[in-house]
Amino acid sequence: MRLARMGNEGCAVAGKLAVIGAGLMGSGIAQVSAQAGWDVVLRDVTDAALTRGTDGIKASYDRFVAKGKMTAEDAEAALARITTTTDLDAVADVDIVVEAVFEKLEVKHEIFRTLDDLVREDAVLASNTSAIPITKIAAVTKRPERVVGAHFFSPVPMMQLCELVRGYKTSDETLATTRAFAESVGKTCIVVNRDVAGFVTTRLISALVVEAAKLYESGVASAEDIDIACKLGFGHAMGPLATADLTGVDILLHATSNIYTESQDEKFAPPELMRRMVDAGDIGRKSGQGFYKH
Ligand SMILES: NC(=O)c1ccc[n+]([C@@H]2O[C@H](COP(=O)([O-])OP(=O)(O)OC[C@H]3O[C@@H](n4cnc5c(N)ncnc54)[C@H](O)[C@@H]3O)[C@@H](O)[C@H]2O)c1
Repeated sequence: MRLARMGNEGCAVAGKLAVIGAGLMGSGIAQVSAQAGWDVVLRDVTDAALTRGTDGIKASYDRFVAKGKMTAEDAEAALARITTTTDLDAVADVDIVVEAVFEKLEVKHEIFRTLDDLVREDAVLASNTSAIPITKIAAVTKRPERVVGAHFFSPVPMMQLCELVRGYKTSDETLATTRAFAESVGKTCIVVNRDVAGFVTTRLISALVVEAAKLYESGVASAEDIDIACKLGFGHAMGPLATADLTGVDILLHATSNIYTESQDEKFAPPELMRRMVDAGDIGRKSGQGFYKH
C-alpha cells in the first residue's frame, strides 16, 4: 500500500483494490474506496451489472456534490479511479480483494479458488459475507492466513461499521492490513476474534429480534410497545420488530436458524410466530405486512 493522493476522513493509506460483485454492497465498497484514493477494479459477470453498479455510484456522488459534502472535481476524480471489467484476470495485481457476490458458498468457493491462483501471493482476500464462516471460504485457498471477513453494512457510504472477522487461520498481519484499508475508507472496525456463526452483529440482532418476537407472540406487550421500550429505554434508533420488518422477517428467520443450528443455543431458536409469518408471506415491508402493516 502507498500514501493516498487525496485526503479522506479516514487514514492516509490507499493502494489498489479489487471488488468482486458490483451489486448493492460491491458498488458501495468501490464507491467509498475510490473516494478515499484507492484505485479500484470492479468486477462483475455482465456489463449490465457493471453499468448498474457504476450508475448507482455516480448518482450517489452527485447527491453528495449537491449537498456540498464533496466537490464536483473530487467526484470526477473518484469515478476516474474505478475501472470495470468482466475479466477476473484484471484483478491480478492488487493489494486487497473484497468479494461481494451472492451469499452462496459454492459461488464464493469458485471465486476464491480462482483468486488464489491469480492474485499476488501477498495480497489479502476479504469476503463481505454476512454469515458464511470465513474458515469455510478460506479452506479452498492455499493462503487461509490471508483470508479475512470484512463485513460492511448497507448503505455502505452511510454506515460507519466494518466488522472484521478472523477465520481459524487468519494472520495478525492480514487483520491489520484489512483494518488499515477499512479505516482509510472512513469506517470504524470491530474485530470478531472467533469465526462464530453470525459473527457479533447478526448474533446480537438475532437474539434481540427473537426475544422481541417471543414477547409479542406470548402477549406480554404489543409490537409498538416493545419497539418503544428499545427506543426510549435504550436509545435504539429503531425497535427490533420494526427492524425485522425493514430487513425482512424471512432474512432474520434464516439468520437466526443458521446460528441456532450451529450453536444449539436455545436463545436463537426461531419462535413459531416468525416461522408462520414467513409461511404466510408476511415478511415485512417488502410484502406490505410484517409485525406492522406498511
Ligand atoms: N445487502 C446487504 O444489506 C448486505 C449487508 C452486508 C453484507 N452483505 C453480503 O454482501 C454480499 C453481496 O450482497 P449484495 O446485497 O451486494 O448482493 P447483490 O445481489 O446486490 O449483488 C451481488 C452481485 O454479485 C454479482 N456476481 C455474482 N456472481 C459473480 C461472480 N462470479 N463474479 C463477479 N460478480 C458476481 C452479481 O451479478 C451481482 O451484481 C453477500 O455475501 C451478502 O450476504 C449484504
